[in-house]
Amino acid sequence: MAAPLVLTGQCGRQSNCPHFGSVRPLLTDVVEKVGVAGIGAVHHGCNAVTALVASIVGTSVMATRERAGKMVLARAFLMVAATVLLLTSPVRAADLTLRFDGQVRVLSQAQLLASPAAIDIAIPQTSVQAKAVPLLDLLDGLPTAHVDTLEIQALDGFVSQIPMDLVRRSAQGGSTALVAVEDPDHPWPRLPNGTASAGPFYLVWQHPDRSGITSEQWPYQVLSVTGVESPVRRWPQIAVAPDTPADAPARRGQDVFIAQCMPCHKMRGGGAAEVGPDLGQPMPAAAYLTEAGLRALIRDPRAVRTWPEQRMVGFDPSILSDVDLDAVVAYLEQMAAQHP
Ligand code: HEC
Repeated sequence: MAAPLVLTGQCGRQSNCPHFGSVRPLLTDVVEKVGVAGIGAVHHGCNAVTALVASIVGTSVMATRERAGKMVLARAFLMVAATVLLLTSPVRAADLTLRFDGQVRVLSQAQLLASPAAIDIAIPQTSVQAKAVPLLDLLDGLPTAHVDTLEIQALDGFVSQIPMDLVRRSAQGGSTALVAVEDPDHPWPRLPNGTASAGPFYLVWQHPDRSGITSEQWPYQVLSVTGVESPVRRWPQIAVAPDTPADAPARRGQDVFIAQCMPCHKMRGGGAAEVGPDLGQPMPAAAYLTEAGLRALIRDPRAVRTWPEQRMVGFDPSILSDVDLDAVVAYLEQMAAQHP
């Protein structure tokens, strides 16, 4: 057997890279068939090469199976090596994928930068000037009439569920959602906590106060926008019991949870993100954290416990009001009571 080859990448985001799962089985197949020693991290540009990897690995594995000769194995190794190069080169995801009702539109950075609908904006809270395309223009011609929610998936596993009505409301004087596009010739500064910028695609809002846009409705490093049903229809297990009074804080808390927590957390298996733990199962968070502990943690996780890899950022009163904090704690407590 040839010298062991370990597939590795540099990306610290490996564990929550949304594409790692789909690339991994293919690579595992190669590991078994041609004796690659192991798989390390798959670089975060992997989404751009997933299809390519599939075809390369598919061909080499098939060839190995059919004619197990030296030449074929050598070819398979060359191909694996090519895959490794692809996966470890600093490729950035440069396509934005829009999926609506079975229709898929893939837009490149260059296409978006050249779009006639693009305008120049200043990205809020930074000095960055960027081209940005109004989201409604991007969706023009796609079957969005019956879409309730936009599921916006980011590179690091963050997934916002944004009500389509919020986006539509820009036509009636509400906030306007735009996709800001990083120009490769004028890269944006790195994010404070990371090795990369918010690009290539960053969902930003003009006049966010007009429609009450919250802090977690600004996904960056966006990969895709998909038209979906509302979270409560898709995942009924996240809903408070139907007999919960309309004015109960837990009801409001459910909405706060969907907007502010679900981009990272699931509730009883419901949700699309896996950045943080499921807050409903196996044991509901409110069953092992006290009310005071929950409040303190949501405001500032470091006030409760600290460790170097800690990732959740606290919600101070300017982004989560006291009323919303009460509401989301009431929701977590009600979920614990409903599903002990
Ligand atoms: C940007 C992603 C992100 C968002 C948004 C987020 N969290 Fe977290 N949360 C995490 C991560 C990651 C952890 C795991 C600990 C860590 O790394 O900080 C966590 C941990 C927690 C925990 C502790 C769970 C445990 O068992 O230790 C609670 C409770 C929690 N989050 C509640 C919330 C609530 C409530 C919201 C919404 C108001 C929220 N989080 C929003 C990422 C997030």
